[in-house]
Amino acid sequence: MKILMVCLGNICRSPLAEGIMKQKISEAGLPWMVDSAGTGFWHVGELPDRRSIATANQRGIDITDQRARQFHVADFERFDRIFVMDTQNRQDVLRLAQNEAHRAKVELMLDQIFPGEDRSVPDPYYDDDGFKEVFDMLNEACEAFVSRMATS
Ligand code: 4NP
Repeated sequence: MKILMVCLGNICRSPLAEGIMKQKISEAGLPWMVDSAGTGFWHVGELPDRRSIATANQRGIDITDQRARQFHVADFERFDRIFVMDTQNRQDVLRLAQNEAHRAKVELMLDQIFPGEDRSVPDPYYDDDGFKEVFDMLNEACEAFVSRMATS
C-alpha cells in the first residue's frame, strides 16, 4: 500500500504524519510506502519546521530526510490512500480530482479515530505549544489505521 499525507505547507503536520506512519509500519513489518505533500507551494524544498523536527525527535523519530513538495494531480494515481490533515486540505485536494476513484482515496486523517466527525488536525504553525498535541493526535490516528489494516 502507498500512503500520502497531505497538509498545507508540508512542513509541520504532514511530515510528522509521514514520520509516525513510517515508524508504525516498520514496527508492524508491513511493506508499505509513505510520503507527504502540501497543497501550497511556499515551502517547496524546505526541511520540516524545526518544531516538528524537535517534537518527532523527542519521540525517537528522525524526519530530517524529508523535503517539502507540492501535491500534484499525478499523486492520485501514485497513491492508494491520501490522508488530509484538515477540511481545507480536503477541499483543495478534491478540487484536483479527475474522477470518482481519485475522490475515493481522499480522507481526513482523524476519521481513523473520530469517524464521520469531520475533525481537523489543527495547524500548529502559529502555535509553538501545538506541536505535541498534533503529534499525539497523529500518533493515535496512525496507530488506529495500522492496527485496523494489519488485522483485516
Ligand atoms: P502545515 O503548516 O500545513 O502543517 O505544514 C503550515 C506551514 C506553513 C504555513 C501554514 C501552515 N504557512 O502559511 O506558510
